[in-house]
Amino acid sequence: MSVDSSVSAPEIRKLWKSDIPEIARHLLRLDHESRYSRFGALVSDDFINRYAKGTIAGDKVVFGAFFDGKLRAIGELLGLFQSWPHDAEFALSVEPDWQNKGVGGMLFARLVTASQNRGVKSLQGLFFNENEKMQRIVAKHAPEIIRNNGQIEAKFDPPWASPISFARELAQDVGAYFRQVYHLAT
Ligand SMILES: CC(C)(COP(=O)(O)OP(=O)(O)OC[C@H]1O[C@@H](n2cnc3c(N)ncnc32)[C@H](O)[C@@H]1OP(=O)(O)O)[C@@H](O)C(=O)NCCC(=O)NCCS
Repeated sequence: MSVDSSVSAPEIRKLWKSDIPEIARHLLRLDHESRYSRFGALVSDDFINRYAKGTIAGDKVVFGAFFDGKLRAIGELLGLFQSWPHDAEFALSVEPDWQNKGVGGMLFARLVTASQNRGVKSLQGLFFNENEKMQRIVAKHAPEIIRNNGQIEAKFDPPWASPISFARELAQDVGAYFRQVYHLAT
């Protein structure tokens, strides 16, 4: 993943129910093109508001990337625990002014570790043929690519969970928690 060194690194953390209004505002700030790429259709503001309400649930894990305390990008892991062995879907959205700076790649790495630690055996996502950035992001995981009607379904098997992958997720969660507490206290 190439990260643009001219921008400060975002704070990345898991999102909770209390973040739902911020998630809705983030998705509403996507421009037409990004909204179309994210949802595969030009969805309305009402649709986004309803969608945002369902983003935090037991079968989902959502990471957010914050710049100056504002949510600018999310990575979603959807449909966890609905099958055995677990399958899951991923989705990413980065606001236009924060695109092409490595944020999508960073969030995707979090989604892969989270999948690994939850026993996901097949991770898949759907995006348009012309979405070169998504193709670059998933290419690092040797996906099986299925092309259908202008869309790409990318499917790959995350590695088995390991003590290192558990430790990585735990350290990221603990670090984010303490940074948040410190920020609130100052
Ligand atoms: C697709 C999306 C998630 C990518 O996130 P991003 O932060 O803009 O992408 P990154 O900066 O992490 O770049 C990802 C890769 O694309 C490459 N890239 C960056 N800009 C590019 C461009 N204009 N054309 C082609 N590749 C580009 C990067 O070099 C990187 O590859 P590398 O890791 O091999 O160097 C983001 O642009 C977005 O939200 N788009 C709208 C919604 C969407 O399409 N979601 C996906 C469907 S679920």
